[in-house]
Amino acid sequence: MLDRYGRVINYLRISVTDRCNLRCCYCMPEGVQDVGMKNILTFEEIWEIVRTGVSLGITHIRITGGEPLVRKGCVDLIRGIREIPGVETITMTTNGVLLGNYGKQLKEAGVDGVNISLDTLDPEEFYKITGKRELQEVLAGIRAAKTAGLPVKLNAVNRKELDPIPLVRYAQEENLPLRFIEIMPVGYGKKYVGRSNEELRETLEAVCGKAECMTNREELSRMGSGPAVYYQFSDLKVPVGFISAIHGKFCDTCNRVRLTAEGYLKLCLCYDEGEDLRRVLREGEKENLRTIMEQTIFRKPAAHCFEHPAEMTETHEMVKIGG
Ligand code: GTP
Ligand code: 5AD
Ligand code: SF4
Repeated sequence: MLDRYGRVINYLRISVTDRCNLRCCYCMPEGVQDVGMKNILTFEEIWEIVRTGVSLGITHIRITGGEPLVRKGCVDLIRGIREIPGVETITMTTNGVLLGNYGKQLKEAGVDGVNISLDTLDPEEFYKITGKRELQEVLAGIRAAKTAGLPVKLNAVNRKELDPIPLVRYAQEENLPLRFIEIMPVGYGKKYVGRSNEELRETLEAVCGKAECMTNREELSRMGSGPAVYYQFSDLKVPVGFISAIHGKFCDTCNRVRLTAEGYLKLCLCYDEGEDLRRVLREGEKENLRTIMEQTIFRKPAAHCFEHPAEMTETHEMVKIGG
């Protein structure tokens, strides 16, 4: 469907849990409480919302969290989504810790690709960022996903301290696309001053050769349908993507809405605007679900206002939203 600005909305990001097995400093540091199972949508409720979303033009589903794989039965949930006619692609964003156990099952359940967060290859830095010592599990998870035949992309948050070179070398060795994400002032992200992706790209050019923006439609469609802008560096075989939420606003082509684990249909990362679909489903208004979703999506805000954090109305941590 089209929103009031004429943007095609065909992408739904579903957060299936607000729990996580890591404690990333910019997302859910130690002490953030989860909302509890009774407040989380059931699989049946999620399927109902997906079916209705598809009738409104949603074709692409991304499963997020928290960490989606800590939700019990996550693979069954995905199998159920796969059975809904009209769902064209299902992808997942994960921290990779549990992928060693689930890679093969995800592929068999019909997952089309996984984006895996990898902010560093240094075990001590990994511990500083995530509060856990699970870097080896993440690397094993990346290998398991590849072995299972799942297309993998790597995500690294562009922290001020980030040394991108080891990550680029790793991506090159593993033959995987790597994306850098500008840190957004959502939740604990507010405490961190990031660096612009442009600055990072210039640093990379000095080591990896000249960067050329990729424009080939076919190649780009294979890279997914998110906001990343991809570059080919002359000395690298893998594409490098830049998600420049702050310095390269991409809201005029935004194609997505979000469903939080609690069932809130969220229109933009920056604002709390949206609709409580859990209430609609649980308080006897099920027959109005389609109309309510349609009217809600229609009023999606024009753009984020991360450059003016005082105007933001989103107060939740990133882990409650799903990134
Ligand atoms: P594909 O390109 O299809 O693989 O998906 P994606 O890049 O949108 O998914 P992923 O979950 O890997 O997101 C990567 C980063 O982009 C995360 O930090 C998200 O928070 C951020 N992101 C995704 N969608 C949006 C969006 O609509 N607005 C903003 N500002 N950031 C987004
Ligand atoms: N800004 C940018 N990216 C973030 N992520 C989590 N919090 C933030 C933030 N404040 C990233 C994670 C993961 C993706 C889903 O979102 O590192 O790669
Ligand atoms: Fe967990 Fe991802 Fe948040 Fe880290 S960024 S705490 S891995 S949900």
